[in-house]
Amino acid sequence: MAASLQLLQFKPVRSFHSLSSPRSTYVRCSAAPPPSKSPRSYTITLLPGDGIGPEVISVAKDVLLLAGSLEGIKYEFRERLMGGAALDATGVPLPDETLSAAKQSDAVLLGAVGGYKWDNNEKHLKPETALLRLREELKVFANLRPASVFPQLVDASTLKREIAEGVDLMVVRELTGGIYFGKPRGFGTNENGEEIGFNTELYSAPEIDRIAHAAFKIAQKRRRKLCSVDKANVLEASMLWRKRVLAIAQEYPDVELSNMYVDNASMQLIRDPKQFDTIVTNNIFGDILSDEASMITGSIGMLPSASLGAPASGPGLFEPIHGSAPDIAGQDKANPFATVLSAAMLLRYGLGEEKAAQRIENAVLDTLNRGFRTGDIYSAGTKLVGCKEVGEELMKSVESNVPAGATV
Ligand SMILES: NC(=O)c1ccc[n+]([C@@H]2O[C@H](COP(=O)([O-])OP(=O)(O)OC[C@H]3O[C@@H](n4cnc5c(N)ncnc54)[C@H](O)[C@@H]3O)[C@@H](O)[C@H]2O)c1
Repeated sequence: MAASLQLLQFKPVRSFHSLSSPRSTYVRCSAAPPPSKSPRSYTITLLPGDGIGPEVISVAKDVLLLAGSLEGIKYEFRERLMGGAALDATGVPLPDETLSAAKQSDAVLLGAVGGYKWDNNEKHLKPETALLRLREELKVFANLRPASVFPQLVDASTLKREIAEGVDLMVVRELTGGIYFGKPRGFGTNENGEEIGFNTELYSAPEIDRIAHAAFKIAQKRRRKLCSVDKANVLEASMLWRKRVLAIAQEYPDVELSNMYVDNASMQLIRDPKQFDTIVTNNIFGDILSDEASMITGSIGMLPSASLGAPASGPGLFEPIHGSAPDIAGQDKANPFATVLSAAMLLRYGLGEEKAAQRIENAVLDTLNRGFRTGDIYSAGTKLVGCKEVGEELMKSVESNVPAGATV
């Protein structure tokens, strides 16, 4: 039975990032325990996917298991095929069996999908098609992508220390609408007989309203600043977006709202990222801006995400924001922190298990404090290790549960 996500009942929780920024808080999406079984026992669907997906999911699973058992939680894990792995085994990227297992679980943890081998497949046979369909089927319309600079990794950022230090922002991306789903879409020929490809950016007022409400509530639990990013000077869908966000803002007088065009936002993100607290934006702008924000933090390998739906709509989907990284797959070079932090988000937002989430976040900080780094976040003076060894060190940290912030 699926956990019901109370997206509209956020509770403040001190985050591990708030150590460097004491005023900031994560929001928590508490889950009502499934009625038919023990509230401390959960079914988790694991979707390792392709490339580095299986490597990072293996670490996250071990960490989830250990943190759970130390906090009195039991899991039933169901591992299913998705993406290229599913295509090779079954001929489709999202088998019905995978989808139904995901829908019937309390939360879904995904690695990543895609790879060179399937790049030239027809669209319905691309691994990435499975991802879009899964998000749509699970009705997870709000994608939360925190981007915070870990004090230990400031020097891994491509930005100057004084710009990157202390960045703590949250991108709230609309996930199930906009140009990725809008119709009409396809290929054709124009009046000159030339080949064309076309897509439709389309949003309804209710779609904008629900993501705006979610973002305002998240901002309320952080630093009460919300920046809505659009392209309302050019696009009709963005004009409606801005109109609805301004209307919804009347219900949140305690949140300071600003509106910014996406081209300016992409520039401001690297010019002065500390000006942002919570950003709300549409599907495609959120996709791009959150990848850009990831680089402020040093590596895309550090950034988790949570995708949530309306209350009682089904399980949340938790995944690192990176892809399957085929260039380093199978070489034990992948950074598993983003997936491990996604597992912490799963516990907090999907299952309401705050203590276990905190234990995992403490472990990430402790492992970084002890100097262990994968290649993407390595700097002189730290210990360069592989994905598996980071996993082993994380397990030690989960066990010792050194409070977040302690340094050696
Ligand atoms: N959610 C998803 O499953 C998802 C998201 C994005 C891309 N993809 C797919 O992944 C494939 C590769 O896409 P891409 O190269 O554009 O993006 P990518 O995120 O896979 O990789 C971009 C760069 O970051 C590095 N990187 C990514 N994650 C890392 C990690 N955990 N540790 C260390 N380095 C890491 C890679 O080595 C690469 O150099 C494509 O097939 C794409 O469609 C899937």
